[in-house]
Amino acid sequence: MTDARAPKRLFIETYGCQMNVYDSERMRDVLTPLGYAVTEKPDDADLVILNTCHIREKATEKVYSEIGRLRAHKERRALEGKGMTITIAGCVAQAEGEEIIRRAPEVDLVVGPQAYHKLPELIARASRKAGERLETDFTAQEKFDALPARAPDGVTAFLSVQEGCDKFCTFCVVPYTRGAEFSRPIADVIAEARSLADKGVREVTLLGQNVNAYHGGAAFTDLLSELAAISGIARIRYMTSHPIEMTDDLIALHGSEPKLMPFLHLPVQSGSDRILKAMNRKHDGAFYRDIISRVRAVRPDVALSTDIIVGFPGETEKEFEATMQLVRDITFASAFSFKYSPRPGTPAAGMIGQVSEDESSERLQRLQSLLFSQQAAFNASQVGRTLPVLVTGKGRMPGQKHGRSPYLQSVHFNDSQAQNGDIVDVRIIGSSQNSISGELAVLTPA
Ligand code: SAH
Ligand code: SF4
Ligand code: F3S
Repeated sequence: MTDARAPKRLFIETYGCQMNVYDSERMRDVLTPLGYAVTEKPDDADLVILNTCHIREKATEKVYSEIGRLRAHKERRALEGKGMTITIAGCVAQAEGEEIIRRAPEVDLVVGPQAYHKLPELIARASRKAGERLETDFTAQEKFDALPARAPDGVTAFLSVQEGCDKFCTFCVVPYTRGAEFSRPIADVIAEARSLADKGVREVTLLGQNVNAYHGGAAFTDLLSELAAISGIARIRYMTSHPIEMTDDLIALHGSEPKLMPFLHLPVQSGSDRILKAMNRKHDGAFYRDIISRVRAVRPDVALSTDIIVGFPGETEKEFEATMQLVRDITFASAFSFKYSPRPGTPAAGMIGQVSEDESSERLQRLQSLLFSQQAAFNASQVGRTLPVLVTGKGRMPGQKHGRSPYLQSVHFNDSQAQNGDIVDVRIIGSSQNSISGELAVLTPA
């Protein structure tokens, strides 16, 4: 017998980008009123949601192996007289929903990224016929209108303002899995930000596949300025941006709006003009370098981050070297780099000159060792400085706290007084590739 008073257990596994992290949090919020409480393990969950990513082949494969593992738990629970509803959400659900239904009979529900508000109704349906297991309509605004108030669990929060993509880079599935570009109305975004601030959130990261293409009845810079006017919000970030959407106004705002943090994630993908053209990125290397130098002119300390793909079809050693040179010239504080992964249905998957796995791996290794050394050097360059750190939680050791620097670095520091949400001055005394450390600065009166 199951105890009717016991909460139902919900396990959510999130793959992919920040957009999925945001969506997972919203799915939890929509299920909480139904009596679901989050559990850390899938074994004892009444409801399992895999929020999936389709961006590279590896990410997609993981979904099927995870479904296999869940099947065993589901069978064991069935012997104990308990159920387990397996739900596949996210971008694989959107792209391969019908195949999942066909290949994995143990999956109860497949829900695309625009249908999460319907989860309570879908889950409540006791028995589902084959045709009722798939919900992948695109109705982006309806989702946002129907979701309940946020229940943030920290002092930093993501806020989704733009979804979808019309850019159609030739390697990318996002325009197919997330649909056309769509921006939420500015009033809705500001209302959500205010409610986050009321609940103790100090740092907001605006999210979108092309967040700087935002046009929700106002320009992106207007949205940033309105957000900055909310007194509780101390720090603002945004990601991911496209270089061609970096307007003059947005660049200028990096120099004039103190709440806009000195950090910019701007994917470049390649340093070779021929490859950039084949990727349909709509800009060349010189255009990218120009934006970076203009951002640096108004905000010299800005920490730069990027995404790079190696082994795009036809990429020669010389073209790869152009990417290495761009990285050497710009110097990034952090970066994500990937081997090109052919995605079904995208133009690049059919291009001639696919680069061998060995060659791509070797290029990725060379690129990553350069990027990692730049990241370590950026962290080391903070030693000796005193940085304003947003306190986000307890540290690893008693008497230690954890926080975030303006440059999005993870900071460990000695102190037992600071509260989550405080912004304190930390003198940086140590650094590693992935974080910096220090101690609370004793401010000597002038
Ligand atoms: N909207 C963002 C990126 C979304 S996907 C932008 O335009 O920059 C995140 C990153 O995954 C991309 O920037 C790209 O570097 C990488 N990526 C996308 N498709 C890929 C593929 N087929 N193979 C390898 N990496 C890919
Ligand atoms: Fe994908 Fe390009 Fe759109 Fe980014 S801009 S989501 S890489 S198609
Ligand atoms: Fe992956 Fe979808 Fe994000 S494909 S990267 S989860 S938009």
